[in-house]
Amino acid sequence: MARKDKHPVFRPQDKDNIRWFWQNYLRSKSPWLLLVFGMVSCQALVYQQFLSLTENSLNVIFEGGSPQELIKVCAIVFLLFAVRAALSYIVPRLSAWLASNAVRKMRQDLINHYLNLDLSYFERTKSGDIILRLVNQVDGLSTFVGQGTVNAVRDTVTIIVVSGYLVYKSPILFSAAIIVIPALALVMRSVSSKIKHVQQSAENAFGSYMSGIEEMANGMRTVKISGQEDRERDRLFQATDGIRDLLIRLNAAQALFEPSIDLVSAFVYVLVIGGGGYMVIQGDFGIDAAGIIAFLLGLVILFDPMRLLAGFFAQLQASLILLEGIRSVYSQTPRIVNRENAVSEFDTKGDIVFEGVDFSYDSQKQLFKNLSFEIIGGKTTAIVGATGSGKTTILSLITRLYDLDGGQISIGGLDIRDIQIKKLRSSFSVVAQDIVIFNASIWDNIAYVRPDASDEEIWAAAESAEIADLMRERGHAELGPKGSQLSGGQKQRIAIARAFLRASPIVILDEATSALDQKTEQRIQSALERLADQKTVIIVAHRLSSVANADKIYVFDHGSIVEQGNHEELVEQKGLYAGMYSSQKGGFR
Ligand SMILES: Nc1ncnc2c1ncn2[C@@H]1O[C@H](COP(=O)(O)OP(=O)(O)OP(=O)(O)O)[C@@H](O)[C@H]1O
Ligand SMILES: [Mg+2]
Repeated sequence: MARKDKHPVFRPQDKDNIRWFWQNYLRSKSPWLLLVFGMVSCQALVYQQFLSLTENSLNVIFEGGSPQELIKVCAIVFLLFAVRAALSYIVPRLSAWLASNAVRKMRQDLINHYLNLDLSYFERTKSGDIILRLVNQVDGLSTFVGQGTVNAVRDTVTIIVVSGYLVYKSPILFSAAIIVIPALALVMRSVSSKIKHVQQSAENAFGSYMSGIEEMANGMRTVKISGQEDRERDRLFQATDGIRDLLIRLNAAQALFEPSIDLVSAFVYVLVIGGGGYMVIQGDFGIDAAGIIAFLLGLVILFDPMRLLAGFFAQLQASLILLEGIRSVYSQTPRIVNRENAVSEFDTKGDIVFEGVDFSYDSQKQLFKNLSFEIIGGKTTAIVGATGSGKTTILSLITRLYDLDGGQISIGGLDIRDIQIKKLRSSFSVVAQDIVIFNASIWDNIAYVRPDASDEEIWAAAESAEIADLMRERGHAELGPKGSQLSGGQKQRIAIARAFLRASPIVILDEATSALDQKTEQRIQSALERLADQKTVIIVAHRLSSVANADKIYVFDHGSIVEQGNHEELVEQKGLYAGMYSSQKGGFR
């Protein structure tokens, strides 16, 4: 029995997942489920009635009864099947309704959960895995629950009722027939763990395949320019090969169920025809020829649902893996959440203070160690430094996209973790370094950051960011996935327009004007200065001309501050900043 523990048909996590699914998605519908199961049981009862009627009619035929009796039996048989037909219409519709609702709720819960997860989760999770769960796995589960389970209930009830009838007709014959059940159980157990294993591999393969497709589609410009179409094709072809092999293996494992039922039924038929025939010939077993025929008919009716049930069982094993995949998302919990007594009001004009901040993206390499500095409220602070020195990370920490490993960041004396995240983030206008443009119109893209903004406000923001002309020109036209139909500078101006529209008390500009020509930059810079008036502004820029007016400049190197002061002071210091400045001044600009 050691094997049983290694390959149980239901692993502990399966039972737990089924319980979870039931409690969250089905229990509230239990009255409806009961109704469905009631109707399904009626369908099964029809078979039992059919059997006993058949036996009656056979007796009528064999024993020369009256034609009227025969007609009566025929009428009842027809009526019975008419009832069954009506139920066959209602039951799938009702169960499809139940399943669709359960699945909708499951999808919505998943979406909710995903939206609450930390940014870092999305930075380490393949998008294919997320799509797989939200689309394929939920869909697969829905089909299984909606059709599979209901049919399985009908089949089970049919088996119980018909078996009951057969036991009643001849206990001896029936007990001979069920000898084969242990053999069947063995087959199921050994095949089910194999199915689970292959299904799991298939899910992983599908996830990678989808991510591969997404990467190829998004990276098509790079693919084409570097002439790597062949390589991409090989990569995706390989994935399709892998998926084909797994599907064949899955099918092979599932296909073992039904033939085993066939073999078993052959065995039982032989047993009943031989044994039953002998019993009739002997004549002292209380069963006659009509009884044996009805018994055989009962077995035929029995084996059909048994075969279906075996198929259901194979699907169940695969569906348990889908369920596990969906449930696993919930084991991911957001780390960045509101503290219990987080406040909604805070001094947005206060100083932003870093105190002994420790932070690393991965435990291998610490980026900030005991970092302390302050950004004065209402003033403009610039952060400069070599690429990779941690500038963007500073901005991500202030907006709490990541939490610290140690130390604290406070605004106006209040730890940012004591502020409601939504409130905290709503006090920032951000032009991020990597701009995200959605496949919508320019108008919608600007309005995205403040859906309640008036038309005038949106136009004003667009004018300030010098994108209004283009907005007029493009009208409602969509900008392509990721704004692919725009130039880099146009995207940047949309991002700047968003910042204007948002007009939050703290302005964060991460390389906000890096993609603009000098003239446009100068014009937008003066508009930005108007936006920044009286506000706390944090600028990150490589072009030192954009930071020269800042009240305070911090020079970062490998996660530490190596110089600080205003432009003049830093040039005086003749350090890193002075070097950067003179090399830029010595260039073409
Ligand atoms: N999401 C992330 N996960 C892991 N490491 C990251 C992540 N983002 C940045 N890093 C690493 O952290 C370091 C600091 O990155 P950051 O983006 O803050 O640099 P930066 O100063 O803004 O550079 P640049 O001037 O190129 O924009 C880099 O070594 C980078 O590789
Ligand atoms: Mg950066």
